[in-house]
Amino acid sequence: MTDLQGKVAIVGGSSDGIGYAIARRLAGDGADVAVVARRSEKLEAAAARIREETGRRVFTVAADIRKAEDCGRIIDDSLKHFGRLDILINNDGAPPLGDIADFDDAAWDKAWQQNFMSVVRLCRGAVPAMRAAGGGRIVNITALSALQPVPKFGLSVATWAGVIGYAKTLSLEIAADNITVNTICPGRIATGRLAKVFGAEGIGAAAEDGEAEKLKKVVPLGRIGEPREIAALVAMLVSADGGYITGATMHVDGGRRTNLI
Ligand SMILES: NC(=O)c1ccc[n+]([C@@H]2O[C@H](COP(=O)([O-])OP(=O)(O)OC[C@H]3O[C@@H](n4cnc5c(N)ncnc54)[C@H](OP(=O)(O)O)[C@@H]3O)[C@@H](O)[C@H]2O)c1
Repeated sequence: MTDLQGKVAIVGGSSDGIGYAIARRLAGDGADVAVVARRSEKLEAAAARIREETGRRVFTVAADIRKAEDCGRIIDDSLKHFGRLDILINNDGAPPLGDIADFDDAAWDKAWQQNFMSVVRLCRGAVPAMRAAGGGRIVNITALSALQPVPKFGLSVATWAGVIGYAKTLSLEIAADNITVNTICPGRIATGRLAKVFGAEGIGAAAEDGEAEKLKKVVPLGRIGEPREIAALVAMLVSADGGYITGATMHVDGGRRTNLI
């Protein structure tokens, strides 16, 4: 457990999967949380669960982070509701898979809005509020493929590489404001998305359809990660104990990344 009493967090894509685990963990550690997703019914159910389990204030913002106006609304409505902002977790879904040479401009534009411009817009909105609060924490969730590219994941690989560059630069520019910026690159994590990607897209096997062994085989630790294992690192990074870590890009992947650093 970290101590996040008195802190306010915005967690993107938090009705399900990794984002939900992060929102649940931060609330469990004492933060009030604004949760975000497009489908409001599922979002309200997730928020109710977190409220019930943690007793924290949980505010819902139904929004599509691919849209500029929605990014503005996420920041404005959360600030209006809670009166401050200390933590921003950039997370959501991801663009479709396919051969990188075949995507048209519309696909690239969508991917850029989703993976890159959402981070730019939400950080731009959050930084002034964090300065006003005397400091803050920004964590981006990308993927191991941004460091170790995988065929078919090109829209994400290319746009998240941009996020890593953006985050590093931002970390340098706002370090003096006591705001840290870090990026987490998860490997295979047990969520609905993992099953969908590796089942429906025909490039692997879904954990649910009896072929989980194929997915686990390439992981040195021999298993798929749990969303709470990403949330645990996020909790540390946004806590007081994480205060000296900024500009870092960290893989949480059961040992899959093969580079020395
Ligand atoms: N699971 C893995 O193995 C894995 C590995 C590496 C990286 N990642 C990355 O980690 C992120 C989270 O993945 P996950 O597995 O947790 O996915 P997930 O289980 O499908 O959850 C995605 C969450 O984001 C929301 N969302 C999706 N698109 C959105 C949008 N445009 N605007 C606002 N909210 C949106 C979803 O709700 P709505 O659909 O209602 O909006 C949902 O709450 C993704 O970027 C994924 O690529 C995942």
